[in-house]
Amino acid sequence: MRTVVIEAPGVISVVETPDATLPGPDGAVVAITATAICGSDLHFYEGDYPLVQPVPLGHEAVGTVVEVGPDVRTVSVGDHVLVSSVAGCGSCAGCATMDPVTCVSGPRIFGSGALGGAQSELLAVPAADFQLMVVPEDLDTEEALLLTDNLATGWAGAQRADITPGSTVVVFGLGAVGLCAVRSAVAQGAGTVYAVDPVEGRRDRAAASGATPLAPADVGEVHETTRGRGAASVIDAVGNDTTMTAALTCVRAGGTVSVVGVHDLNPFPFPALMSLVRSVTLRMTTAPVQRTWPELIPLLQAGRLDVSGIFTDTYALGDAAAAYAAVASRSGDCIKVSLTV
Ligand SMILES: NC(=O)c1ccc[n+]([C@@H]2O[C@H](COP(=O)([O-])OP(=O)(O)OC[C@H]3O[C@@H](n4cnc5c(N)ncnc54)[C@H](O)[C@@H]3O)[C@@H](O)[C@H]2O)c1
Ligand SMILES: [Zn+2]
Ligand SMILES: [Zn+2]
Repeated sequence: MRTVVIEAPGVISVVETPDATLPGPDGAVVAITATAICGSDLHFYEGDYPLVQPVPLGHEAVGTVVEVGPDVRTVSVGDHVLVSSVAGCGSCAGCATMDPVTCVSGPRIFGSGALGGAQSELLAVPAADFQLMVVPEDLDTEEALLLTDNLATGWAGAQRADITPGSTVVVFGLGAVGLCAVRSAVAQGAGTVYAVDPVEGRRDRAAASGATPLAPADVGEVHETTRGRGAASVIDAVGNDTTMTAALTCVRAGGTVSVVGVHDLNPFPFPALMSLVRSVTLRMTTAPVQRTWPELIPLLQAGRLDVSGIFTDTYALGDAAAAYAAVASRSGDCIKVSLTV
């Protein structure tokens, strides 16, 4: 099968590897039809993590089940499914909450070394009943792909920001995750949503979803418009030192900072005294993907949550190197890329 691997920072190849095989009696093999590139893949691409060997990439995929183990109950060969980017064992007390992050065996993410990469022709999926869901007929491929990760992340990031009706929310970073967080914050009842990104075209996209665009240099305006208090809720969809510091600065006393952006391996110089004196709540979240599905699917089906326009480009799997270069440019025109398999 063909699979996308990262050989070194900035070096993407599409290589032939042995076909994925059933990972156990509760597992399945999925023939991927569409997959996507995530900002999390860019951490490998940009050298944030050391690479000791080539790593198969990708954790967002939809496809067709081509093989199931004897213990699989909820999906069958031929089903059109989406695959959660985060995998749990499916049978422990943590997975019983439908949040794979709390799996007592430890959550595993596809395409990060622990499991196969989803930017591939075939993907081995353990505990298939937990990781796979038949794509509801009225959802399109973009919606299904966003349910595997980015929309689940933006939605959970907004939920964990303690948004109350009419409140002021700031979202840092307007890639696919941040744009999903903006739309989720609006859907969860935020009054004003400030959308912060250095790229004007990305701010324009957030503004089209009802947000108030702000360049990073202008974040001080949040204090001015909240009579010196700051924002009740801040969602950080970047997760670097600059944005986490800015988030902890522009949140109001008693407010909540919800971080979904992924930091590099270095420690963050945490402003502990300021955060304690101001009684700030800080939450860090890996997406509880499966748990978001029963909430998000009816909203998508009813048209109450619109995720159109987040995917901007489509490439063939064989052109993955060009696709990665396009996503890594972080332009106003190219937000999220799908790969057709
Ligand atoms: N927690 C999770 O479960 C989860 C899931 C998916 C992705 N992520 C992470 O979320 C982050 C965003 O992912 P993405 O796909 O949207 O990536 P992306 O790279 O497309 O988006 C990042 C955005 O941040 C902007 N940015 C950079 N510096 C900034 C600053 N100082 N202030 C404001 N904005 C700034 C960039 O211009 C870009 O638009 C990544 O770190 C990714 O790893 C986390
Ligand atoms: Zn991702
Ligand atoms: Zn588990």
